[in-house]
Amino acid sequence: MNRYFVIGNPIAHSLSPLIHNYWFKKYKFNSKYEKKNLETNDLNNFVQEIRNNKMIKGANVTVPFKNKIIPFLDGLSSISEETFSVNTIIKENEKLIGHNTDATAFHKTLENVSKLTISTLIIGAGGVTPSIIWGIRQLNPKNKIYLLNRTKEKAVELVKKLPSSAIGNGIEVLDWGEVPHAKLVVNTTSVGLNQNEIIQLDFRKYQNNKDCMFYDLIYNPRETKFLSDAKGRDNRIRNGKMMFLIQAKQAFNLWTNIDAEIDEEVHKIVD
Ligand code: ATR
Repeated sequence: MNRYFVIGNPIAHSLSPLIHNYWFKKYKFNSKYEKKNLETNDLNNFVQEIRNNKMIKGANVTVPFKNKIIPFLDGLSSISEETFSVNTIIKENEKLIGHNTDATAFHKTLENVSKLTISTLIIGAGGVTPSIIWGIRQLNPKNKIYLLNRTKEKAVELVKKLPSSAIGNGIEVLDWGEVPHAKLVVNTTSVGLNQNEIIQLDFRKYQNNKDCMFYDLIYNPRETKFLSDAKGRDNRIRNGKMMFLIQAKQAFNLWTNIDAEIDEEVHKIVD
C-alpha cells in the first residue's frame, strides 16, 4: 500500500485526509493518506523517512512548515522558488521535489473574477502571502498591489525577497490603518479563524460597492466577520473553500496523474 502524509502543527483539524482518502478509494488506488503532527526539529527525520521508505510516495505540508521544509528537499518547482513555499512533495526519480499548489489554486479561483482585479489590497504578510501575489500576477503582471500588514516591517521584508516577476510595477506597502480603494481585497491573515475575530481596519469607504470582491482565505468558519461585514456593505464575497479544494485536487494530480473530481462528496467533507 502506498502512503501519503500531511504534516503540520497543529494538524488535528486538517480535512485533507478525508478528501485524499475519498479520492484514493474512488479512483481505486491502494493508498492511504494520514496526518502527522511534527515539531520543527522533526522535519529532517521526516524527510529522510519519505526518502528511505519506498511505500511513501508523497506528502502535503501545511502551517508552519511550508517554508521551513525547503532546505531539506532536493529541488523546487519554479512556483515554490518564487513564493518560498511548498505545500506538496513528490518523489521524482528518487529526488524529493517541492511544489506549491496553493498559488496555482488561488489563481484558478480568480478565473471568473479577473475583470475585477484592476487593483488588489492584500492584508497580511505571512507564509501564504507570496502565493497570493503570484496568483494575482498571473492575471496581470503589472496591476496595482497594495500590501497591508499589522507589522509593516514584515511586509517590507517580504517585498524585498520577492522576484521581479512578482513586483511588477511595484508593490506599495502601507501603514497599518491605511485602507486604499481596490477592486479585490484579500485577507491572508489568520484573523477570523476564531468566530467573530475582526481585523481592526476601517472599510467604510467600500460601502455599497458591488464591484469589489472581499476574499478570505479562511473557509472554516464559512463566513468570517471580514466577509459578513463585507456582505453587509454590499460587496461581493468569497471564502477559501475552493482554493483549498483545488490545491488538494492539484496535489492529487501531481501524485497520481488523475484529474480528480470535486464532486458532492468532497463538498460535503468541507461543509
Ligand atoms: P504564517 O507564516 O504561518 O502565515 P504568520 O507569519 O504568523 O503565520 O502570519 C500571520 C499573519 O496574520 C501575519 O501577517 C500577522 O501579522 P503580523 O505580521 O503583524 O503578526 C497577521 N495577524 C495575526 N494576528 C493579527 C491581528 N490580530 N491583526 C492583524 N493581523 C494579524
